[in-house]
Amino acid sequence: MVIDRQKIIEAFRDYVSAYNAEDPKIKLKIDHTYRVASLCERIAAGEGADVELSWLCGMLHDIGRFEQVRRYGTFNDALSVNHAEFGADLLFCEGLIEKFADGLSEEELGIIETAIRYHSVYRLPEGIPESRLSYCKLLRDADKIDILYVNCMIPPKDIYDIPEEQFKTSEVSDEVKQCFLNGTTVLKSLRKHPADYLVGQVCLAFEIEYPESRRIAKEQGSVEKILSFEPENEATAEWFGYMRANIWNIIEAKYNTNK
Ligand SMILES: [Fe+2]
Repeated sequence: MVIDRQKIIEAFRDYVSAYNAEDPKIKLKIDHTYRVASLCERIAAGEGADVELSWLCGMLHDIGRFEQVRRYGTFNDALSVNHAEFGADLLFCEGLIEKFADGLSEEELGIIETAIRYHSVYRLPEGIPESRLSYCKLLRDADKIDILYVNCMIPPKDIYDIPEEQFKTSEVSDEVKQCFLNGTTVLKSLRKHPADYLVGQVCLAFEIEYPESRRIAKEQGSVEKILSFEPENEATAEWFGYMRANIWNIIEAKYNTNK
């Protein structure tokens, strides 16, 4: 696939210029978009997928975020709309895709739409055609790698609006520990103590599917940064030590047995 990246970047800049880039929340989404696009490109190169098409999926994946925050004043999907579906609808039902790229084949359009529509679902639905599935996984991996990055850039007290001291003295719920040991993500409903949120953040790494994605995530070091938290609670400190020592083994064991 051949695309004019400069034209797409300009169209993206033009599109987001209608929103307030001074607002740190909007700026965060713009920066996230560029990082996810370049992660998609790297993963695609390592996994043998179409690099240009993957980059384009990354550039457009969160397009729904801008209109979401303008209309509803929040990035919280539960309080507004599913931003992934909303973005896919803006692009493919309301014709926004034409602003970014023309001359795409039906197949390419189908891949981009499916990858964007399902990039944030907990589990991909059954029945996605094989030709689209790899782009869905690739985009989801890129998004998760960058969420890990953002999580280690912003102090937890600011993300969750919980005083730092409460993280330090927090225990970790047994159910949340079990998620880590099982190599699964932590459902929001299971998080009871402040430190549970940190365990929840690193458990996102269990969902990174492609070997190339895991290689990039490892190189980026976000998991280690999140786990470098030093609790004052003795049992929690011991648990964080355990997670630091074992997380990559648990991740690799999960994918080696699944394949
Ligand atoms: Fe998203």
